[in-house]
Amino acid sequence: MTFDFETLPARRGTGSSKWDAMLSDDPTVGEDIVPLSVADMEFVTPQPIKDALHRLIDSTSLGYTDPTDAFFDAVISWQQRRHGWTPKREWIVTSPGVVPALYTAVRGLTEPGDGVIIQPPVYYPFTMAVERTGRTVLRNPLIKTDDGYRIDFEGLERLANSGSAKAIILCSPHNPVGRVWTEEELGRLLAICSDVGLYILCDEIHNDLIMPGYTHRTLLSLATEEQAERILVCTSCSKTFSLAGTQGSTIFIPGEEMRSRYEAAHQSQGLFQLNAFAYAALTAAYNECEDWLDELIDVLARNYSLLVERLHGRLGGLRVLKLEGTYLPWVDFGAWGMDAELRERFLHHEARLYLDSGKMFGDEGADYERFNIACPTWVLEAALDRLEAAYGSPAFEAARNGEVQS
Ligand SMILES: Cc1ncc(COP(=O)(O)O)c(C=O)c1O
Repeated sequence: MTFDFETLPARRGTGSSKWDAMLSDDPTVGEDIVPLSVADMEFVTPQPIKDALHRLIDSTSLGYTDPTDAFFDAVISWQQRRHGWTPKREWIVTSPGVVPALYTAVRGLTEPGDGVIIQPPVYYPFTMAVERTGRTVLRNPLIKTDDGYRIDFEGLERLANSGSAKAIILCSPHNPVGRVWTEEELGRLLAICSDVGLYILCDEIHNDLIMPGYTHRTLLSLATEEQAERILVCTSCSKTFSLAGTQGSTIFIPGEEMRSRYEAAHQSQGLFQLNAFAYAALTAAYNECEDWLDELIDVLARNYSLLVERLHGRLGGLRVLKLEGTYLPWVDFGAWGMDAELRERFLHHEARLYLDSGKMFGDEGADYERFNIACPTWVLEAALDRLEAAYGSPAFEAARNGEVQS
């Protein structure tokens, strides 16, 4: 292994959202406990990104900064090399994050009261982006089969043709169920939505985190020019290289009218440039860290195999769903027959396991937990040891019997 995927960065007490959530649940939690929740990584930042940030600080001042040619070249070249399509420079707009971009798109492209389709269980800010902007959530839950999750195309067609839907927020790859939608699935969705002129807000933030054997296709590479007029694709380095804290993402909007409506909504919030660190971090990541990403994928695949080996069909019949993309395996705890809140308490206080409760992603997720396996393998092993030791304990039986432990 060329890069360091073994050292745990020191994040406790640094304001890390993930670590603070664990510590606010239990301030006495041991120094050895690492949370496996919020989707950022427990790996040290790749050296070229650190070097680029040092260079920036050492060489210039930190005034207002616009994207440079080097920034756009890095973004376009990455899409060409990793994803096999060539966006045009004028399509690219920047945003402090994908979530802010989704809020902006919903605001700019739909009217209050309009329907926006989401497909739960799904990343919960999708619901927030619709509800908090005064629009209406139209739910088209994914279908769970023995072989994993599928899109309910009949349901989608019904909602798309209902007259109330103006847009869909698509998660591709899908957090939290770990699906990398196939070309055929994306093509079918594209046809249904384009036929009735829905805007497709496609969140591809996990597009670089694809497990061996699977291929991600950006929706824009499958769309005709006419279909692309109503599609926006969100990408970012924040998952790929764990740069969420630098707050820079790139949104591709080919349609001129769509782009100008999006930009007007963005600027009406007083938002213009990114912070100077975001450009430097993203440019270094895309230009100099591809080999780091290749190795990361191997580590994630190894961690996922470990999770399957230790949990699938074990500990009372847990089921680890297939992970095609993301670093967030979805694990079915339904066989425990435990209330979701009691399960959470048991996991926190007995197993010292801080995961993301599946209920956050919609009622469909109530039986599930989302693991974050972007951590050193020894961290995951220790977490699984704790779960194994806690399974079957008196506290486990009490939670299973519906008893609330203090
Ligand atoms: C599907 C999805 N979209 C967006 C985000 C967050 O994006 P950002 O931090 O760029 O707002 C996440 C983070 O977990 C995510 O999983």
